[in-house]
Amino acid sequence: MGLMASIFPLCAQTPVYLDDTKPVEERVEDALSRMTVAEKVAMTHAQSKFCSPGVPRLGIPEFWMTDGPHGIRPEVLWDEWDQAGWTNDSCVAYPALTCLAATWDKELSLLYGKSIGEEARYRNKTVILGPGINIYRTPLNGRNFEYMGEDPYLAGQMVVPYIKGVQENGVAACVKHYALNNHEMNRHTTNVIVDDRALYEIYLPAFKAAVQQGDAWAIMGSYNQYKNQHGCHNQYLLNDILKGEWGFDGVVVSDWGGVHNTDEAITNGLDMEFGSWTDGLSNGASNAYDNYYLANPYLERINSGQVGTTELDDKARRILRLAFRTNMDRNRPYGSMRSPEHYAAARQIGADGIVLLQNNGRVLPIQLNDQPKIAVIGENAVKMMTVGGGSSSLKVQREVSPLEGIQNRAKGVATVAYARGYVGDASGEYNGVITGQDLSDNRTAAELIAEAVELARSSDYVIFVGGLNKSKHQDCEDSDRAGLELPYNQDELIRALAKANKNLTVVNVSGNAVAMPWVKEVPAIVQAWFLGSEAGNSIASVLFGDINPSGKLPFTFPAKLEDVPAHLLGEYPGTPDENGIFQQHYNEGIFVGYRWTDKQKKTKPLFPFGHGLSYTTFAYGKATADQKSMTPDGQIIITVPIKNTGDRAGQEIVQLYISDKKSSLPRPVKELKGFEKIHLHPGEEQLVTFTIDKDALCYFDDVQHEWVAEPGKFEAIVASSAADIRSVVPFELQ
Ligand code: GLC
Repeated sequence: MGLMASIFPLCAQTPVYLDDTKPVEERVEDALSRMTVAEKVAMTHAQSKFCSPGVPRLGIPEFWMTDGPHGIRPEVLWDEWDQAGWTNDSCVAYPALTCLAATWDKELSLLYGKSIGEEARYRNKTVILGPGINIYRTPLNGRNFEYMGEDPYLAGQMVVPYIKGVQENGVAACVKHYALNNHEMNRHTTNVIVDDRALYEIYLPAFKAAVQQGDAWAIMGSYNQYKNQHGCHNQYLLNDILKGEWGFDGVVVSDWGGVHNTDEAITNGLDMEFGSWTDGLSNGASNAYDNYYLANPYLERINSGQVGTTELDDKARRILRLAFRTNMDRNRPYGSMRSPEHYAAARQIGADGIVLLQNNGRVLPIQLNDQPKIAVIGENAVKMMTVGGGSSSLKVQREVSPLEGIQNRAKGVATVAYARGYVGDASGEYNGVITGQDLSDNRTAAELIAEAVELARSSDYVIFVGGLNKSKHQDCEDSDRAGLELPYNQDELIRALAKANKNLTVVNVSGNAVAMPWVKEVPAIVQAWFLGSEAGNSIASVLFGDINPSGKLPFTFPAKLEDVPAHLLGEYPGTPDENGIFQQHYNEGIFVGYRWTDKQKKTKPLFPFGHGLSYTTFAYGKATADQKSMTPDGQIIITVPIKNTGDRAGQEIVQLYISDKKSSLPRPVKELKGFEKIHLHPGEEQLVTFTIDKDALCYFDDVQHEWVAEPGKFEAIVASSAADIRSVVPFELQ
């Protein structure tokens, strides 16, 4: 016993809630028993733009939320969206989640989550408001760039490691936006009408994986309504499914301004209210937070005996559980910020997510052995993309533009010249974060095109960098695109460049599919996402062949908008009812993306789901099954040899789809149920195996309200994309 202890009486036994050697649930109950009703109510709603109170009297810390899925948002003023003006809060911007999904690489997703989680931890945040996994139903959705594509299995498999990586830092992931927030137009005033099969088979599985496999500690409710209840206080989605069927034990956080009703907020599964514009008060009023739906109105209902405290205790338990998993876990790591490892992660994820869509005549990779003259053309070669786009906007320590990345890589071995080509969005500010770029240019389109064509004619290679940007009605929150076409007259420019130089590569920077009417005139096309701080380096490493592209599309590129069932069958954006609520029927049901392409057969997509080329080639051998049939609780192993038949190492994403040959309910022709990304040296062959169990065969029976695997004939389909089937293995479910 040390001297100190002999001087001071033994300190009172450490209270259980402060003793992190005790099980979390014991700490929860102990803390709850010490809290007053007022303290519990205070915890359920914000006290500032991005934080909610702990229990100061008990030493339970505040909860700090931060956007966003691609990097840690800069500090804002207490009750504003505008900047607090700190100088220590710039971050690393990681690639947008469409890029992560396009890597089809679970290890990279874990690295992504770990890296961004370390930055959140270092900034002392409790919850990252991300990742987003809303399904890609329409290519017009302004926030598709923040999500993981059209297939629920891919999104589910890729979101789980991200969550694990974040949460190993003692920071909660807050998976969003649960659920059915599949476009931005009228996002606060849309009621989604969707059948249970599409809900359970398409729109919920990735969230279910996030909860049951990813163990997400937080979920964010969506703005839209489902069954005429707002997603942030929705009996069906939150109580019945999330907390009931799935057993979610974390907290449901509202979207900012997503709460509209005290009684529903009390009873329909909401735990933490943020961002409300309160009744009768202008936003930002000093006591605005006391007027939140779960603030004084809640307290008054309890004090008057109108409601009990059962729901309150459940909310408080979940919030305390969050505290003990994060702020009050003394063993959690300390995090790190803007480290070389974080930049390396951003660069790797970016390079591995880039998709080589087309490479006719092997224009790529660009050869640097004879001092070529390279023309770089397009506004997106220079425009910063980390500022703007809505709540995922960031204040970065640095962002390497595509032009800078190409110049860095070509230094000493090529000459690089730039021409603007077109003028799109010359602005560069969001919530007070400025890019500092002066992109103003008052030349006419004709002058810009003439200059670009002139440069193209006198160059050996032309790299056009265009696409969308983060401005309204492009890839931007709270607005959707008006059409599939590229903006700013880029199509005309691209056609002119194709005539001027046969070694043209189009690099499309976007988080969404775009129309490519010039697809037959352009030899090489690369889908480069919003790639963050290391954008230019990731792009250059692929264009010059330092890295062999291995990304594959997480969503279909339709040839035209009418080919998309949300637009062909409707509804989008829905029709307003007498109350101004847009009633939106998901008429396509389960037939979203390639599921629709396979069903209607007549129109081919521009580029299919799962498509992506390499600088090498891969041969698929014949797939075989270890047995011809399986019992319901059995499994079947599918094996397929893959060989690198080209002259350089590369990675291939082998996809497994399951086809139910005969079912009592309509089913898609095939559905993704497995994928493996393998690395092969030239001439190397590897056996890839997939294990099929009953879950891979099920569909959701909306009458029985349960998952059903019907005995009968199935096929295991091994493919390189949804439209490039390499091997089919029939089997039976007994
Ligand atoms: C926004 C977004 C949500 C974001 C939140 C806080 O409106 O919908 O994704 O996390 O508000 O900025």
